[in-house]
Amino acid sequence: MPAGKGKGAGPGTPKRRARTAGDMRTPTPKAGRTVSSQRWITRQLRDPFVADAKAQGYRSRAAFKIIEIDDKFHLLAPGKRVLDLGAAPGGWTQVAVERVEPAEGRGAVFAVDQLEVNPIAGATAVMLDVSKQDTLPTLQELLGGPVDVVLSDMAPAASGNRTVDALRAASLADDAFATAEHLLRRGGSFAAKLMRSGQETQFVVSLRDRFDAVRTFKPKSSRQDSAEIYVVATGFKG
Ligand SMILES: C[S@@+](CC[C@H](N)C(=O)[O-])C[C@H]1O[C@@H](n2cnc3c(N)ncnc32)[C@H](O)[C@@H]1O
Repeated sequence: MPAGKGKGAGPGTPKRRARTAGDMRTPTPKAGRTVSSQRWITRQLRDPFVADAKAQGYRSRAAFKIIEIDDKFHLLAPGKRVLDLGAAPGGWTQVAVERVEPAEGRGAVFAVDQLEVNPIAGATAVMLDVSKQDTLPTLQELLGGPVDVVLSDMAPAASGNRTVDALRAASLADDAFATAEHLLRRGGSFAAKLMRSGQETQFVVSLRDRFDAVRTFKPKSSRQDSAEIYVVATGFKG
């Protein structure tokens, strides 16, 4: 029996300090866990957006990023057709469905990820790798016409090397726009995740020829120590 618990705890046994709310959010280190996985678990437990996502029924804390983006730039509205790239596990898709209110023949949300997205009522989820060449024709057939908004929260699996991750993220942003330019209607909007590395400005500048307005935005729900920002482009020129 562990010290301090049950009958074995005599008067000479040091008393345990009462656990506070802060303690409850620090998991006991477990054998076999790496330092980085332990750090990740601790951060998740202390993150108010993780708790809010759970309380509000969102599948990811990322839901709050698209809420902030949309509250500022007004991309989503009832009746819009939206393509969500890098959708798993589905937080952005849930928010898109709430705001688009898809109904028979009016509005639609398509969720695409290389991983499976568990079904979300009101959305059509498909498992596709956006970086593959045969994905675009598959999407064109699935969508059956242009969309009003293309969102991309695609991110590479973290390698631990910031430069490598930034290059991979830049390549995914390129893939997202290469897809969007074939699927967006004139006047449509595009929002995509970028990683600040100095190189991302080139991508942002290149979008200025294709859209009426291009801005970058760091939502409050995006971790301040993360290089992540979002580019939001409106008024697609075709
Ligand atoms: C940060 S998560 C997206 C979170 C999501 N927006 C949400 O709200 O739940 C990034 C996603 O990008 C996906 N992804 C990365 N590369 C991809 C690719 N080439 N094609 C499709 N999805 C990709 C990953 O599988 C991962 O699910």
